[in-house]
Amino acid sequence: MALVYIEQVEEMRVNQMQQTHEDEIKILNDIDKLAFLQERGEATMEELESKINAYLDHVKEHFANEEKLMRKYDFPKYDMHKTAHDMFLEELNDAVKLWKRYENITKITNFIRRTPEWIVLHVNTVDAPTADFLAKKMDQVEG
Ligand SMILES: [Fe+2]
Ligand SMILES: [Fe+2]
Repeated sequence: MALVYIEQVEEMRVNQMQQTHEDEIKILNDIDKLAFLQERGEATMEELESKINAYLDHVKEHFANEEKLMRKYDFPKYDMHKTAHDMFLEELNDAVKLWKRYENITKITNFIRRTPEWIVLHVNTVDAPTADFLAKKMDQVEG
């Protein structure tokens, strides 16, 4: 069973946003699986850590790219959306700090395993209306 399925999140009307969500869900499921295998000695700590680092990079780029699009097309609720991203990143950074301070990877893997709830809610209630707005604006610019 995967941690989170792409079917749980609404399809974005902006392709690059949809692709980012699909990629991120794949990374999350990979981490969940690697954490399980690592506990059983069937994957190395290096493999797990490198996937977690890929996730940290991906999520920052994910948010930064959405924020860039929102600024480019003057999305009126930019501040609300950006604040939601910033609050999540703060919690994520706290989990990373605990992981490093205690050299205990479960501080971050447990956090990551709890994130799908936030992600599904954020994508469906914040990203989806943002993408609808952006898609309309993009059509106007191209049309
Ligand atoms: Fe998103
Ligand atoms: Fe977002």
